Amino acid sequence: MGEIVRNQAVRYYSLPECIGPEAAAWAEEVAGKIKAKLLVVAERSQGKVPFTTVDGVFDDWTEKNISWWTNGFWGGMMWQLYHATGEEIYRRNALELEEKLDRNLMSAAGMDHDSGFKWLTTAVADYRLGGGEVSRNRGLLAADNLAGRFNPAGRFLRAWNDNGDGSRAGWAIVDCMMNLPLLYWAYEEIKDPRFLQIATMHADTAQKYFVREDGSANHIVEFDPVTGDFVRTHGGQGYGEGSSWTRGQSWALYGFVLSYLHTKEESYLNTAKRVANYFIANIPESGLIPVDFRQPVDCSLEDSTAAAIASCGLLEIAGQLEEPERGVYLRAALRLLRTLEQKRCNWDLSCDHLLEKCTSAFHDQKHEFALIYGDYFFLEAIWKLTGEELFIW
Ligand code: GLY
Repeated sequence: MGEIVRNQAVRYYSLPECIGPEAAAWAEEVAGKIKAKLLVVAERSQGKVPFTTVDGVFDDWTEKNISWWTNGFWGGMMWQLYHATGEEIYRRNALELEEKLDRNLMSAAGMDHDSGFKWLTTAVADYRLGGGEVSRNRGLLAADNLAGRFNPAGRFLRAWNDNGDGSRAGWAIVDCMMNLPLLYWAYEEIKDPRFLQIATMHADTAQKYFVREDGSANHIVEFDPVTGDFVRTHGGQGYGEGSSWTRGQSWALYGFVLSYLHTKEESYLNTAKRVANYFIANIPESGLIPVDFRQPVDCSLEDSTAAAIASCGLLEIAGQLEEPERGVYLRAALRLLRTLEQKRCNWDLSCDHLLEKCTSAFHDQKHEFALIYGDYFFLEAIWKLTGEELFIW
């Protein structure tokens, strides 16, 4: 492919070499199944910006809400597949989606803290694979906008927008740890330390206010946007205040190890390990992840996305450690991924999605359906094991 890869964060150990021949063969087999399915799905899904499926068919958010936080993940899947196979269909789909997101980039109301999710998976991925100035420009504009959400009094990045009344001006959310890599990328690209300063100041605040003593994490932390003082926490998409929304745990787990990869600041790795240890200790016997580790005992709702995202983070932690510590994280990731593959993957070629039983939020009306980011992170985790990953974050 004549590959150019720009600004890759450094991993100490090669994961495919660490996992042993049996797990490596399994990962190769799963990767083969993903490629076989996605070639068919990519062909019939041209022109779409999928979020979920309806009767097994991808929906399309092009007109519904081009600014939705998940709109980059289909592009990310396409770039990962293109990186692994060189099939042109993936590149075409990814480029089409990247261009569509320009409508979001031109909408102030549509720009929130989720720029990492949207442009690292699209324009920046394209640029890392040799894409030109237009893609780089998109990535830098998105990074500038994200940096502009920094609240200097509280040293945090504002998460969501509101209707202009400032009611969410002091809200930060744990998911934002996954958006920081856009700032690290911009810093590495143009060597302006403001991007690094803002990202690390937010990560330091998140370490202090999001991660609890036991390694669990809050979803939302509210600060006074004027003084920067801590106000309170909110349960957000989890069961309630003080609960443990599993996707939030996985954003913290993966997000902190990513901040470590970019900065080599030891405390970020230690925080990632603390969250990971808590996550591992709470994996149910079944290996399937609930929506909230503290949901009522008679509630069996699951979220496969949390398992897929946590697997990515666990693998990255493992990639930084030596045995015997490494094995703890590797084994946990492999257990989650094998469980997803055996029990929650839909391998039917006539169905567009991969992962079943994903949940957006505990108190939503609808639970346990397909979500595009579940598919993205499952694919990314498998690619980490086969060595085919384009490092997006
Ligand atoms: N970042 C939003 C979510 O995880 O649902």
